[in-house]
Amino acid sequence: MDIVKESAKVAIVTGASSGMGMEVARRFAKEGYRLALGARSVDNIEKLALSMENRDQVMTSALDLASLPSIEAFAQAAQERFGRVDVLINCAGVALGREPADQGNLEEWRTMVETDYFGPMALVRAILPGMKERGNGHIINIGALAALFPHPGSAAYASAKEGIRMFLKCLREDTLGAGIRVTNIDPGITDTGFALTRFRGNSEAVGKLMEGFTPLTSKDMAECVWFAASAPAHVNIDQMTVTPTDQSSPTRLHKRP
Ligand SMILES: NC(=O)c1ccc[n+]([C@@H]2O[C@H](COP(=O)([O-])OP(=O)(O)OC[C@H]3O[C@@H](n4cnc5c(N)ncnc54)[C@H](OP(=O)(O)O)[C@@H]3O)[C@@H](O)[C@H]2O)c1
Repeated sequence: MDIVKESAKVAIVTGASSGMGMEVARRFAKEGYRLALGARSVDNIEKLALSMENRDQVMTSALDLASLPSIEAFAQAAQERFGRVDVLINCAGVALGREPADQGNLEEWRTMVETDYFGPMALVRAILPGMKERGNGHIINIGALAALFPHPGSAAYASAKEGIRMFLKCLREDTLGAGIRVTNIDPGITDTGFALTRFRGNSEAVGKLMEGFTPLTSKDMAECVWFAASAPAHVNIDQMTVTPTDQSSPTRLHKRP
């Protein structure tokens, strides 16, 4: 086995089956990282891995952030395969529905809390001891602009993303002095499958949202993740908020004719 490849850094990318996670995986592969890719749509991550030049250095494995056994099995498989994890990039996430809180669907709320909040915390819990032991590591989380502003129809999603944001802030305190970096990146509207999932497959509603408006792309976000990861080891980017130029808050968009 190639010695250079063996010493290459290792990144976990969750949500690598689509959108931002897929572009982040491509970006880190381009930089020579060995990768552990996780998502429920295993076919998609396998296809992605096969398209990469360093495919023999890419692990793909089913990961369901709503299932603790799945999270623990994924974390163990990644650590066994590579012996270490240098960067944990949590891209997976979901928003479902836009109803006001009195009409919210409790099962959907549970899904959002598990996927956007508890699951990422559990994955950090599984990976962190190894990072601490080695005295370095980087945890990067994709949050949401939604977490920064109270706005209607987003109580469960925004609070789950706000929850993980505070978890990461506390993590920074718990790991201070251990050589571990913690970054949360909150994007605004990004052109992925996210909105279609949120609008439960209503492509007309998604079209209306994007009309007269240039959203961020997955590539834009992958560059932001890489910017944080590639900063020198003594530089920790705590928080990045990234929005389309024509978006100032979750509810305030400037539409052009
Ligand atoms: N796009 C936006 O406008 C926007 C704005 C703000 C924040 N965000 C955040 O950005 C992140 C990336 O989303 P995206 O825009 O790239 O959307 P996307 O294309 O819908 O991707 C979401 C990813 O999350 C994964 N995922 C969903 N539920 C999961 C589960 N239970 N277990 C494991 N993986 C799961 C999906 O994979 P599987 O379905 O294969 O499991 C998919 O890879 C999310 O955290 C989202 O909350 C997006």
